[in-house]
Amino acid sequence: MLSKKIEAALNKQVTIEAESSQVYLAMASWAENLGFEGVSQFMYAHSDEEREHMLKLIKFINERGGHAKVSQLAAPPTAFGSFKDMFQTLFDHEVMVSKSINDLVDISLQEKDYATHNFLQWYVSEQIEEEALARNILDKINLIGDDKSGFYLFDNDIKQLITNPKEASI
Ligand code: FEO
Repeated sequence: MLSKKIEAALNKQVTIEAESSQVYLAMASWAENLGFEGVSQFMYAHSDEEREHMLKLIKFINERGGHAKVSQLAAPPTAFGSFKDMFQTLFDHEVMVSKSINDLVDISLQEKDYATHNFLQWYVSEQIEEEALARNILDKINLIGDDKSGFYLFDNDIKQLITNPKEASI
């Protein structure tokens, strides 16, 4: 059975994952409008992943006798400046999510809720990967600089990351 404190903290994470999904959906739409198919596909897929993260939390809260709440979400931005700005926003967002997961892990230990602690380890690993991926993409964008043909290739290469995020050599 979840304590009220853990239940509230997990529900806060449900909102964060749902908002992440919305932010990446907005990025997907922005990139699609600019004609960058690869980047938009990557963002649509990323948005779906965040929804999965949210659903996993909802199932866990309800399974443990809590009540997962679906709450109102903050509206995401509709424009993101440049690709560099957009991926910087993505990276900063993931750093914020990692901090939130770490705080949750901390609360689970304070509450001696080892089942929740165990459950959260999946998110801890996931955040390491997500931050590394975002950092990797930012490095590539910095290498491309203002080279338009470089962006065309990048848009094509990023499609690999959708099906094969770990092995891709983008
Ligand atoms: Fe679910 Fe990208 O954090």
